[in-house]
Amino acid sequence: MTGAPYWYPVPDVDARAAQVADSFEQVHSAPAAGVWAAPGRVNLIGEHTDYNGGLCLPIALPHSTFVAASSNSSNELVAHSVQRPDEPLRIALNDIGPGRPAGWGGYVAGAVAMLRAASDGPRVAGLTAVVDSDVPVGAGLSSSAALSCSMVLAAAELAGLNWADDDAGRARLVQVSVRGENEIAQVPSGGLDQAAALQCEPGHALLLDCADHSLAQVPFDVRVHGLALLVIDTRAEHTHSGNEYAARRAACEEAARELRVTFLREVADDPLEQTLAALDERELRPLVRHVVSEIARVQQVCELLDAGRLPEIGPLMDASHVSLRDDYRVSAPQLDVAVEVARTTGALGARMTGGGFGGSAIALLPLDAVDAVSEAVHEAFARRHWTSPAFLLAEPSPSGRRIR
Ligand code: GLA
Repeated sequence: MTGAPYWYPVPDVDARAAQVADSFEQVHSAPAAGVWAAPGRVNLIGEHTDYNGGLCLPIALPHSTFVAASSNSSNELVAHSVQRPDEPLRIALNDIGPGRPAGWGGYVAGAVAMLRAASDGPRVAGLTAVVDSDVPVGAGLSSSAALSCSMVLAAAELAGLNWADDDAGRARLVQVSVRGENEIAQVPSGGLDQAAALQCEPGHALLLDCADHSLAQVPFDVRVHGLALLVIDTRAEHTHSGNEYAARRAACEEAARELRVTFLREVADDPLEQTLAALDERELRPLVRHVVSEIARVQQVCELLDAGRLPEIGPLMDASHVSLRDDYRVSAPQLDVAVEVARTTGALGARMTGGGFGGSAIALLPLDAVDAVSEAVHEAFARRHWTSPAFLLAEPSPSGRRIR
């Protein structure tokens, strides 16, 4: 007996926002000034391209992190997390710095500190917040960006900054969140996750050009085609993923230096064999091959989506997975099995999504194959005595915003 596949509950945003408002009131004996939310994401394609100035194509998930917050006059950041009740956060704004506070508070404090640094208008004062989240943690679905982005939305509005109201302001909020993660939480993430959390639109994937930060909304409505996008959280632990991520990023920077460009994106249109031959360090070649070929795959997927040919993107997803597995070497056995089983039981295409070394895979499949594929993956994991995977269906959802 392997039991039935586990499905993450489909969240009711308004009910969850009311719940976190109640939690705030219980902890602080006063109502919150507002509740803000930002979603997790899956990246359709364009992996490990963001920090190379490349292209990526995320969608926002229906699952969000919620922040109920008010200003305070003590110049402190005070935050509680429903998921981490034993780790309350209290820090003077002036004490926030690299690695301070550590842990989940770094994402919250990073957003606030970098917003203070970036805003020359109204002052960002002390903040009191309660955080609650539906984004699965450790699943490669960007729960950390959902946290920093929901916080930056709350902090900005409470400081009288209306940056969330237009595209240019949102782009600034993305940069603030990225800096908060890089400099305070000290995670060298590349910008994909924060852009997805703050710039996606429902029914669309976000084509993100990480060289000039330009955006395009690309139609992505799987249901019109009788399809679904299944997310398979392999629940494989990504031990060492932080070090491996930093190592890949450093290797790409080294390759760019050898090729005398700032970002690998700049060689994306050159003949690939010529570029690879110019690299003396042979072990850098497969990494560059992944980055360059992945950027081309993003362009091909967008062309198909713009032409209304969504069901045809499957082979490009498959090719992306192979490239991440064999050339970039960021997959994991659980991801490879999830992808393989999904494909052999009816998916049109499947790939790992996010940073890798564990986390989630996505599969594009006919709606009526969802049960068969999820059951087959569940059983394949049980046969190997792996932790059971968990599933959700990704509907392209709205980005971060004030809920109440
Ligand atoms: C993680 C990082 C992103 C991006 C992806 C890989 O999710 O946070 O910036 O680099 O990995 O595409």
